[in-house]
Amino acid sequence: MLDKLLFRYIGNAKKYIVVSVLLMMSKVVGSFSIALSLGRILQNLFLSTSANYIAAILFFLLGFVLRSGSLYLVTRYQTKITGEVKTNLRTEMISKAMRVGPSYLNYTSTANMINMGSDTIEQLENYYGRFLPQFFGCFGMSLVTFIVLLPISLSSALLFLFLAPIIPLMLKAILEMVARKQRKYWGSYQDVGQLFLDSLQGMTTLKIFSADKRRAEEIHEKSEIFRVETMNILRMQLRSITLIEWIAYGGSIALMAVGLPGMSLSSGNASAMIVLIFMSMEAFSPMATLTSSFHVAMTGVAAGRNLIDFFALPEQDERHKNDIKYDAAGVSIKNLSFFYPDSERKVLNNISAIFDRPGYTAIVGASGSGKSTLVRLIAGQLEGGEEAIFWGDNAYSTYKKQSITENMIRISHDAHVFEKTVRRNLLMGKKTATDEELIAALKTVRLYDEIAPRGGLDLEIKSGGSNLSGGQKQRLVLARAILRDARVYVFDEATSNIDIGSEAVILQVMKDIAKDHIVILVSHRLYAGKDAKKIYVMDDGKIIQEGTFEQLVKSDGVYRQMWQAQARFESQDLRRLCDGTLSRSEIRS
Ligand SMILES: Nc1ncnc2c1ncn2[C@@H]1O[C@H](COP(=O)(O)OP(=O)(O)OP(=O)(O)O)[C@@H](O)[C@H]1O
Ligand SMILES: [Mg+2]
Repeated sequence: MLDKLLFRYIGNAKKYIVVSVLLMMSKVVGSFSIALSLGRILQNLFLSTSANYIAAILFFLLGFVLRSGSLYLVTRYQTKITGEVKTNLRTEMISKAMRVGPSYLNYTSTANMINMGSDTIEQLENYYGRFLPQFFGCFGMSLVTFIVLLPISLSSALLFLFLAPIIPLMLKAILEMVARKQRKYWGSYQDVGQLFLDSLQGMTTLKIFSADKRRAEEIHEKSEIFRVETMNILRMQLRSITLIEWIAYGGSIALMAVGLPGMSLSSGNASAMIVLIFMSMEAFSPMATLTSSFHVAMTGVAAGRNLIDFFALPEQDERHKNDIKYDAAGVSIKNLSFFYPDSERKVLNNISAIFDRPGYTAIVGASGSGKSTLVRLIAGQLEGGEEAIFWGDNAYSTYKKQSITENMIRISHDAHVFEKTVRRNLLMGKKTATDEELIAALKTVRLYDEIAPRGGLDLEIKSGGSNLSGGQKQRLVLARAILRDARVYVFDEATSNIDIGSEAVILQVMKDIAKDHIVILVSHRLYAGKDAKKIYVMDDGKIIQEGTFEQLVKSDGVYRQMWQAQARFESQDLRRLCDGTLSRSEIRS
């Protein structure tokens, strides 16, 4: 019931749990004080013994204040515990993702990350805030109850000592029975969430392909499975709560049944009888409260498994590794081979290449030949190949992961812009940049004049950059990258799907950057890489040709075929394709 791994993230909340337990114990003392004073008052009233009503009333008030004050403070501390733990878990989640690097997405999906950061952590609130304090509180409260019962009725106190652990033990047994059901319930919840997010993101595509109806049916099917799982869980919870309540009531009656017959209604005993009745009725209430928080908390724990698995992702000890501090002559690759996790296919096969400066190097090749994989490895966005990729004389494995990702920037066609102002997006490139520097970067990519009338740096960007054109978005991404002043810039199809004007600007900026930085260009448009100092041609994970444009077009090989095909297509065939006069066999050739 106590999850060791979840306990690790409790931080300062441990202190608050100890205080909560002490408060719960003082609540029982308060109850005892109320029972005792009531007992005294009733005894005096009915048995007409000499009375000190004032003392009894004061004692009653003291008990009342202690009991209600403790209850109130326990709730306050619950909020503190959940606040503390939620912050700890979310901080750990972000820093874990940073430590693992961008390749964390190889292990989990974006939908799952959103789910963990919100729902999972909210679910765990019950475990940390309600269940844990109540669990320890049960022991503390039972101890006070036992001490109070001891002088009143030895047999009741001993019976309580025997019965008290029964409910927690039963909960443990129930937990073992339902753990599988809870995991299933949580799994189906995630299934629905994932499908829903995916549908939401692809809503336009679903509509265009008229696939929305089928998708709605799929969501309905998954929701139905989730509903059934939810009902199963609720049914099981209700049954066990009822059972435990019966045990609690039975236990209270049993305590009275063994204690009361031994007491005669004499003057001293009357108030003791009242205390026994009152304390017996309250004795098992901590366990009943524990039961009610138990099920929700355990669903939270089942949900938390995901988060714990994420926290357990492998990460290297980087303390002895270096930061990238000097400007090496280049990035070199020596006999690099690469497999994606869970795949047996060699996506890169014995690659050797050098990317240095000045001037840029191009990588070309058919779709799926491994270009993006190679540059993602160079930019530190994929795990692997650290022994075969070198910054200067030293392998990537000798550098800190974060230092690599900060110094090697990959600008892709789907780079992300954030839902904030242009300024906030740019400041990600350089935190300390002044407005003048930001404007200069925007001017370099010829974006400033276009956005200045719309608010300039204060222009609010909508989700995914939807209020910018494709070309503007890509130029903003480039401005952000320029501000970073990285060592290596990789342009991975950074100009695909954008207007010719933006493409020309980006290529010009790329050439300027290449004067004093290492620049790698990956592009299907061969003319973009024509001026490269060297072009690598990839096919099926291998480098099959390398050389300058002049060398490659002269030699008979894949590059020349690609160049000729593209030139033909872009000159006359494109026009004929648009006219619809290009035959199928010609398109294939
Ligand atoms: N995450 C992944 N897991 C498994 N295989 C992958 C993964 N990403 C890519 N691949 C496979 O690796 C191969 C190389 O992909 P890569 O994206 O590097 O190609 P590319 O040359 O950049 O293609 P394109 O020109 O279409 O962008 C492809 O066969 C692809 O299916
Ligand atoms: Mg690619």
